[in-house]
Amino acid sequence: MDGTFNENDISRIVEADRAHIWHHLSQHKPYETTDPRIIVEGKGMRVWDQTGKEHLDAVSGGVWTVNVGYGRESIANAVRDQLVKLNYFAGSAGSIPGSIFAEKLIEKMPGMSRVYYCNSGSEANEKGFKMVRQIAHKRYGGKKHKILYRDRDYHGTTIACLSAGGQDERNAQYGPFTDGFVRVPHCLEYRKFEQDGAPDENYGVWAADQIEKVILAEGPDTVGALCLEPVTAGGGVITPPDGYWDRVQEICRKYDILLHIDEVVCGVGRTGEWFGYQHYGIKPDMVTMAKGVASGYAAIACLVTTEEVFNMFKDDAADPMNYFRDISTFGGCTAGPTAGIENMAIIERENLLQNTTDMGNYMLEQLEELSDKYSVIGQVRGKGLFLGAELVEDRTTRVPVAEKLVQAVVADCMAQGVIIGATNRSLPGKNNTLCFSPALIAKKDDIDEIITAVDNAMGRVFG
Ligand SMILES: Cc1ncc(COP(=O)(O)O)c(C=O)c1O
Repeated sequence: MDGTFNENDISRIVEADRAHIWHHLSQHKPYETTDPRIIVEGKGMRVWDQTGKEHLDAVSGGVWTVNVGYGRESIANAVRDQLVKLNYFAGSAGSIPGSIFAEKLIEKMPGMSRVYYCNSGSEANEKGFKMVRQIAHKRYGGKKHKILYRDRDYHGTTIACLSAGGQDERNAQYGPFTDGFVRVPHCLEYRKFEQDGAPDENYGVWAADQIEKVILAEGPDTVGALCLEPVTAGGGVITPPDGYWDRVQEICRKYDILLHIDEVVCGVGRTGEWFGYQHYGIKPDMVTMAKGVASGYAAIACLVTTEEVFNMFKDDAADPMNYFRDISTFGGCTAGPTAGIENMAIIERENLLQNTTDMGNYMLEQLEELSDKYSVIGQVRGKGLFLGAELVEDRTTRVPVAEKLVQAVVADCMAQGVIIGATNRSLPGKNNTLCFSPALIAKKDDIDEIITAVDNAMGRVFG
């Protein structure tokens, strides 16, 4: 294409997109005959596409991100003011918003102490893995280096994160992977009948004990950390069974294994607490967070550790190798913590944690009512405004419905102007969970509109 064009010349924008953009997670063949979707504007819970069509966004920007909703001028103004004052300096130095946000974050995380800034969930998790490896080298002659991860969990898109990835379809074709990552079984009670030996009672404790079995098989002196999502997100919105976390914690303490909690989705309000782990009395050693930290108004991720972990990297100042020799160029951008401060202030001012709990409970009830109407809804689960509905062919056999039918429900909602999500191309044969994560500002009317769209779609696809 020649010449200049402006942002209002929407057909030229579409043409440029089709010619030059490589969309994430997308097969591009259909774009040879249909237009890619371009999201032009957002306000509150709603976005508008290039045709002017309005959508109610029930997935906070597609991937659990825009927690405080679109069009927040107070965040934009704070970021603008900071950028003209100082946009960037490398993270080996401090910054004013960096200090303020770290202090506010730590106030919400009793027991935690240090914030390491970077700019994506994957990157934050990789930093955690690197810390575990360096601790193994410093203290255990490199031996205690293995990192356990769980079936169905996801920790990011880089090769090391995929090595810790429990979603085999996401991983497929990207191997070989990094050594030293070991899988433990999932804790989805609804599918315990597929796990050998799972008991009728006390499933949570049993599921945690399966982690201990892996530790014993690997050798506890080789295992440095256990990395888990507090509530599994893209792996099917899996809330932990009763008794699970207490036992997991006990096991980690028993074998001196660091507990790395991935809060990339749950973090900063999504579940109705500041952090998902805070529902379960967990005392983590490392916590990673990204998406909701600044609701997508700036790229920011954090790895937060205890003072104890931090101290392991400064105990021998005479050794030139004895500190965390890591950097993230854009971890020094001041826009991230600036947006994070205002994002957190909005959540407090507007009492959004309470709203998330209330609206989450309301939405869960509404989804349960839908499950009375459609037997294809096998189970509804979730915490706060982070919900899933697992679809099955038959409630007795719990055979998952085909992914294309789940996607047909998503597409039907989209046609109605409501954006919902679903597990997709993640778990072989088990991409059968509809996902809902409206912004934390959702009101009853918004939830009702989402539920009506799902009801209509289910009626057409499964009616
Ligand atoms: C639980 C979890 N961890 C980590 C990531 C990776 O985050 P990012 O895409 O920012 O690298 C994701 C992304 O969806 C996630 O869901």
